[in-house]
Amino acid sequence: ASIDSVVGLPDFEFVARNYLPIKNYTYYRNGAGGEWAYRHNVEVFQQYAIRSRTMIDITNIEASLPTQILGHNFSVPFYITPFSRADLAHEGAETNLVKAAAAQNILYVPSHYAYQSIETIGAAKAEGQVLFQQLYLTANDTRTQIELDRAKAAGHKAIVFTVDCPAPANRHRAARFDVLSLNQAYVPLTWEFYKKLTTMTDLPIILKGIQTVEDAKLALENGVPGIILSNHGGRQLDTARGPLHIALEIHRKAPELFQKLEILADGGVRYGADALKLLALGVKAVGIGRPFAFANIYGQEGVERAIKILRREIAIDAANAGVADLKKIKPDVIDWDTPYGY
Ligand code: FNR
Repeated sequence: ASIDSVVGLPDFEFVARNYLPIKNYTYYRNGAGGEWAYRHNVEVFQQYAIRSRTMIDITNIEASLPTQILGHNFSVPFYITPFSRADLAHEGAETNLVKAAAAQNILYVPSHYAYQSIETIGAAKAEGQVLFQQLYLTANDTRTQIELDRAKAAGHKAIVFTVDCPAPANRHRAARFDVLSLNQAYVPLTWEFYKKLTTMTDLPIILKGIQTVEDAKLALENGVPGIILSNHGGRQLDTARGPLHIALEIHRKAPELFQKLEILADGGVRYGADALKLLALGVKAVGIGRPFAFANIYGQEGVERAIKILRREIAIDAANAGVADLKKIKPDVIDWDTPYGY
């Protein structure tokens, strides 16, 4: 299908479903178990309505989209979350994502299991472009040290350490195609290990896959500069909570954490209004995975189109909600009490 026919983020998946070999499509689309967590991630945003205010000057909304993540400037409060094997959509693989991110000035976090090497990805960067490197726990500390050093040498500015996969995932859909989860072992992920990790590099290390207010508090106590609320796109543990309910729990039980920690979130964000709901709770920036993985079937152009679509939707939805300045969005722009939808 012509790229001009793609008008929203979900469209990339519809096109990819017909275009990609079924095995490749399945690898991206997969969720764990009955895929309840996968569907929940996408559907939960429709359970909360927007309380639009009116008679507010919203004409400067676009100027309020730029944000900082760990002190680095980006044009929008969303970023490309790490996902493995970008080559399954396009031969340009991760390089397309690096270039699209540079052209649109957004953050890209390459995966530990990217198809291209840290060095190849680093070399594709534009002048001054900021990338963070995602890492999993590796077989041993020597290997981990090597990965940390490679990320540093490639010029990456932070490490995103993923902590929501302590055990193998149960992915039926992919298993039918003989595409197994990459992580096949039980791994000892502990706060002691986080402390050790911080002595192995001078890059800031943020944690991806925090799912409760308890662990968000522990992250703060352990000196973690930032956390990503995520259930791994519903790919790891079925019926794990999506980012909106995790953020809502923090908002209700320990709202100060949104000031004390840099809190990002990912999972199921497909529309501008979805992103607004996370931002309203105090989430600094929102990660998007599958839509970018699928957009890459059109290469850099597709990824850039996805970025432009979401940027526009966030701006117009914020304006229609009566948000004059996205940086000052408040939780009360959403009705958290009355169930909405079906
Ligand atoms: C992922 N995700 C992921 N996360 C991570 O930390 N390291 C990784 O290597 C991967 N790999 C990966 C592959 C694919 C194909 C997908 C779809 C996802 C999880 C990812 O960072 C993020 O949590 C989810 O993708 C967010 O959900 P959405 O936006 O895809 O709904």
